[in-house]
Amino acid sequence: MDNDEITQKLNSTLKPRRFVHTLGVAYTAASLAMCYDPLIMDKAFRAGLLHDCGKYLSDKENITFCEKNKIELSDIEKETPGLIHAKMGEFLAKQEYDENDEDILSAIRWHTTGRPGMSLLEKIVFISDYIEPNRDHDPDLPSIRQMAFTDIDGCLLRIYEHTIWYLNDTGKKQDPMTKESYEFYKDRLQN
Ligand SMILES: [Fe+2]
Ligand SMILES: [Fe+2]
Repeated sequence: MDNDEITQKLNSTLKPRRFVHTLGVAYTAASLAMCYDPLIMDKAFRAGLLHDCGKYLSDKENITFCEKNKIELSDIEKETPGLIHAKMGEFLAKQEYDENDEDILSAIRWHTTGRPGMSLLEKIVFISDYIEPNRDHDPDLPSIRQMAFTDIDGCLLRIYEHTIWYLNDTGKKQDPMTKESYEFYKDRLQN
């Protein structure tokens, strides 16, 4: 599928707000790629477009979808079905959007928690999801946005710090992968 076809399909599947966010992530990811490695710009745009393609069902429907399609879920994913859309996105990108590029699929798979040792493309999609222009959830966004283009790992760490603080503050359940990645990048940046 080309980008126009993907965009049209997403527009008819996602809620309007999610669709606008999706475009924001795609263009932000392309811009970050222009900054760090223009050769991956097309992949970054495509991964940004598809990153939330699995985010259109209710929590209950997410679980049923995964059972039906034999997508294995961790305990934390069963308890917090909002996390499932990353795995579902990877599955749907392949099945519904004919995406076979492993780098893109992996960036979709890890866009909510990140993981230790992310590829540049994975970092770009993870960060773009947080900083795209329609987001306003973090008062530090202006400086985090600037940092994304000057110090990508430092930016990653600030996003993790804020995310973990937010999850603790609101008593929301945390995927252990979030903490694991945070520790990984903290150690790497401090040593
Ligand atoms: Fe997402
Ligand atoms: Fe997103």
